[in-house]
Amino acid sequence: MRLTFPCLLFSFTTVFSGWSHAGDTTPDRQLQRWQAQAPAAASAGRGRDFFVTKAQHNWSCATCHNAPPNVAGEHAKTKKRIRPMAPAFNDQAFTNERKADKWFRRNCNDVVGRECSAQEKADVLAYLLSVR
Ligand code: HEC
Repeated sequence: MRLTFPCLLFSFTTVFSGWSHAGDTTPDRQLQRWQAQAPAAASAGRGRDFFVTKAQHNWSCATCHNAPPNVAGEHAKTKKRIRPMAPAFNDQAFTNERKADKWFRRNCNDVVGRECSAQEKADVLAYLLSVR
């Protein structure tokens, strides 16, 4: 019986951290992850241009996230409030690898009609980290 308690505790912690998107990484570590797969050094300027350029549906990343994204954004359709994307203004931004991958995939498909390249992700994150 002695072993039951720690085991339960472990599984509860695992389940709840999955729900709450608790941090498993940092913005810097995610930048390094994409930088390692990108051909060129991440550029905050290129990231900013990408972030504000309108594509499909006349949407850009800034349509929902604002530019500079140091304030909360709002979903263009659902009006859902979105916490600031710049890590300096939101300590939860880019602290969960699965969350970042999921939203990059979804939002890039919505805005540019394809997945973002590792270079684009590195550039966007370099831009977001430069917003202070
Ligand atoms: C139609 C609205 C919309 C547009 C346009 C949009 N996003 Fe998002 N994005 C969201 C929402 C909603 C979330 C989830 C916010 C939350 O729950 O914290 C999100 C979250 C993200 C996240 C996760 C951040 C993290 O903390 O891990 C990334 C990365 C992201 N968006 C990138 C982009 C990029 C890049 C673009 C432009 C190509 C873009 N988004 C355009 C609505 C949008």
